[in-house]
Amino acid sequence: MKILLIGGRGTIGKKLAAALGKLEKTDLIIAGRTSGDQQVDITSSASIRDLFGRLPLLDAVVCTAGTGYYGDFQTMTEEQMLPGIKGKLLGQINVVLIGKDYLREGGSFTLTSGVAAEQPAHNGTTVAMINGAINSFVLSAAQELKQDKRINAVSPGLVEDSLERYGALFPGSDAVPMTRVVNGYLRSIFGALNGEIIKVYQ
Ligand SMILES: NC(=O)c1ccc[n+]([C@@H]2O[C@H](COP(=O)([O-])OP(=O)(O)OC[C@H]3O[C@@H](n4cnc5c(N)ncnc54)[C@H](OP(=O)(O)O)[C@@H]3O)[C@@H](O)[C@H]2O)c1
Repeated sequence: MKILLIGGRGTIGKKLAAALGKLEKTDLIIAGRTSGDQQVDITSSASIRDLFGRLPLLDAVVCTAGTGYYGDFQTMTEEQMLPGIKGKLLGQINVVLIGKDYLREGGSFTLTSGVAAEQPAHNGTTVAMINGAINSFVLSAAQELKQDKRINAVSPGLVEDSLERYGALFPGSDAVPMTRVVNGYLRSIFGALNGEIIKVYQ
């Protein structure tokens, strides 16, 4: 089974990569902006097209790449919101729109949204909006994909390995164990779920 993991050297991605790497008959290709086996910038549709063009047909495409702006709502500008929209939101959408032609029949996409879609953090409007849009894209795209291709989103809460980096943004949040987050992705990749938002924070 050939799996492309975009963002596979990031905090969540590397734990997922370690779990996938232990499975038999799984051929894992890790992509990142500067890290991994293959380079791609998901803010660029040309770069995404180039990546898929270099790879064999895939059974699963997983994206754990992207982030968004945190900052004061009163002074927040379009310029501050755009990188996250172009990266985490449109980047993941383009991975699906372009990648669907490089996915085998019955293959799957797994995107990443986040708890902020339902429980926005203070100063986290951009991220909340992006995560909500990803979830809605997944619900709708699941109805449109052909050849039994599936799509889901994993929506993590603050993960344990990010406590130091992001903990201050989410006071009082219980951090989610990495094994729970990884299992959410495994359910999407290897299960039969389609059009599901796999919430790993409840
Ligand atoms: N960490 C959390 O607690 C948490 C909670 C909820 C949701 N999430 C979401 O989960 C996802 C992963 O989070 P994370 O904390 O694991 O992120 P991270 O540690 O910052 O890692 C991000 C990964 O994505 C790659 N990447 C970033 N921008 C890219 C681009 N434009 N094109 C291609 N690859 C790119 C990076 O590669 P390079 O290093 O090579 O640039 C890196 O491997 C994000 O969407 C985040 O919003 C995270």
